[in-house]
Amino acid sequence: MIGVFDSGFGGLTILKSFLEHLPQYDYLYLGDNARTPYGNRSPELIYQFTREAVDFLFGQGCQLILIACFTASAEALQQIQQEYLPEKNQRDKKLQRRILGVIRPLVEEAIRFNNFKKIGVIGTCGTINSQTFIRELKKINPNLEIHQKECPLLVPLIEEGYYLRREAKMILRNYLRQLKLKKIDTLILGCTHYPIMLKQIRQVIGKSCRILNPGEIVAKSLVEYLTRHPEIESQLSRNSQVRFFTTDNPEKFKIFGSKFLGQKIDKVEKMNLSN
Ligand code: DGL
Repeated sequence: MIGVFDSGFGGLTILKSFLEHLPQYDYLYLGDNARTPYGNRSPELIYQFTREAVDFLFGQGCQLILIACFTASAEALQQIQQEYLPEKNQRDKKLQRRILGVIRPLVEEAIRFNNFKKIGVIGTCGTINSQTFIRELKKINPNLEIHQKECPLLVPLIEEGYYLRREAKMILRNYLRQLKLKKIDTLILGCTHYPIMLKQIRQVIGKSCRILNPGEIVAKSLVEYLTRHPEIESQLSRNSQVRFFTTDNPEKFKIFGSKFLGQKIDKVEKMNLSN
């Protein structure tokens, strides 16, 4: 089973692409809706919340966990991966479990073609302040010109269904102004929610800028990962079943979650992370 974790609904945009590209596997989605948004929280809390989610998903029998939240991937993934690292040394390869994030696939896609040199990154305050994208991009190509911008109002605008309004476009224009002036050739959507505003982002940033949309990219990267790691792939169950868990109201999750996933969600289970 593949566990997919996000602070709330946003990771469903990633799960949607998994269901298109890898429909054969079983998935367990967990949204920490009771404590969302993570974007403005301290790194310590983001780590604690993410660790609790990872423990829950492993406890449910997931062999592979995808942290589908950019803020959690930026602020907590590396530490949590290291804490589970001893498992890598286990002799019994059949018992191996893995935790992946969403930043690496976007970074690899950004540097795939070397004619793109001016990269823009947008995300939550947590993701941008962590400098994780800059660090990872520069590790691979120190000559890249990278410009970041935190866009804290976009998540609430999307969650409240305000993103189609004129006011939302004005805010977006404001956020993207500097990146546009810098003439970036690539824009990384470094937040699970932003694909919902893809059309508006494209209109504002202009057609000549390549936009990296996480869902497709992360799904293709997972396909490649599973091909490279048969020891993990062979452990995954294949009944095409998806279970949804939330830490908040399951009825609300059904309604909002269905919009993010692009299909109806019939059953959602409630659970508590903080014990
Ligand atoms: N899931 C978060 C991310 O991708 C956005 C929502 C939040 O701030 O929790 O960064």
